[in-house]
Amino acid sequence: MDHVITGGAGFIAVNLARSLLARGDRLVLLDDLSRGHPAYVEALRPLGPVAFHKVDVADENALGAAMAGVSPEAHVWHLCANSDIPAGVEDPAVDLHDTFMTTYALLRVMRKRGMRRLHFASTSAVYGDHGVHALHEEAKTEPISNYGAMKLASEALIRAAAEAHLDIATVFRFPNVIGTPATHGVLIDFIRKLAATPGDLAVLGNGTQKKSYLHVAELVEAMLFITAHGAGGYRVFNIGPADTGITVREIAEAVRYHVSPGARLHFGTADRGWVGDVPRFVYAIDKLRALGWSPRLSSHEAITRAIAEIAAAERTAHGANPGGTSP
Ligand SMILES: NC(=O)c1ccc[n+]([C@@H]2O[C@H](COP(=O)([O-])OP(=O)(O)OC[C@H]3O[C@@H](n4cnc5c(N)ncnc54)[C@H](O)[C@@H]3O)[C@@H](O)[C@H]2O)c1
Repeated sequence: MDHVITGGAGFIAVNLARSLLARGDRLVLLDDLSRGHPAYVEALRPLGPVAFHKVDVADENALGAAMAGVSPEAHVWHLCANSDIPAGVEDPAVDLHDTFMTTYALLRVMRKRGMRRLHFASTSAVYGDHGVHALHEEAKTEPISNYGAMKLASEALIRAAAEAHLDIATVFRFPNVIGTPATHGVLIDFIRKLAATPGDLAVLGNGTQKKSYLHVAELVEAMLFITAHGAGGYRVFNIGPADTGITVREIAEAVRYHVSPGARLHFGTADRGWVGDVPRFVYAIDKLRALGWSPRLSSHEAITRAIAEIAAAERTAHGANPGGTSP
């Protein structure tokens, strides 16, 4: 089977790619390398057939050229986006371009080329701030960040395309996803801060923010399970752990325990880390369970596993200079 993965040099994409290659499938990876790394793509090559194109997916002509040789039967996994929420709050053009216009251009190219199978990486950020109420897929969508807004707009565009020209349109609403190779997020942020200043760790917000975390291995397993089960058409799934999450304070303490046990933790005063941060969310995953897939790791277990993996990867990457920059 053939697959196209946009954002193919990014964190979740390379994990998805590894699983698809293990099945014997062929991949075309597309990425502008703004956040992904060529080294991640190179590491996939021994595992099976991988073509890579450095391309801005929002550029319809360049995208069309990059996808020219791809079979119309291919599955397209749309994972490229701006993954830096504060950057999008600072400049809405970032989310408009990398999150929304990539979806728009991709749908136009797929339509022109008669490609009818799309799977989209959406996010809990489309719901906005609902406090401790468990969010099922029909909950109100009131995003409070440009990132969430452009993901929700992308979902709407895909819904319309499912009416017009797609046979399969799967929307996955991811929680916080952790593991390696980490390109961003709270764990790599804490681990690098502690590598630079082992005695102190500054935490954004007062530490009470509480969110759901899923290990990337389980996320990919769930994505592949969903696409292998059920009819085509437009489908939306929350993917997440079965608990109410873990606080930022608990995460900071777990990273400190693993990386720099003597460090002092310094918390801010705000109840959230940045403008647009959703301080609490809880997922209802009944729909995913009803389909037949359930998570095995709690948020806490996923965090513990990912801290060990990211810390080991950082030691390997930086050797005697653990505070250095990533590749
Ligand atoms: N990691 C999470 O916790 C999480 C949570 C919810 C949703 N998601 C979504 O999952 C997807 C993958 O996220 P990730 O964590 O792997 O992030 P990532 O930043 O590692 O991967 C995204 C990739 O997209 C690429 N990209 C960005 N703009 C592009 C453009 N215009 N053209 C081509 N490539 C472009 C980047 O270079 C990067 O490699 C994203 O859509 C993200 O919004 C991630």
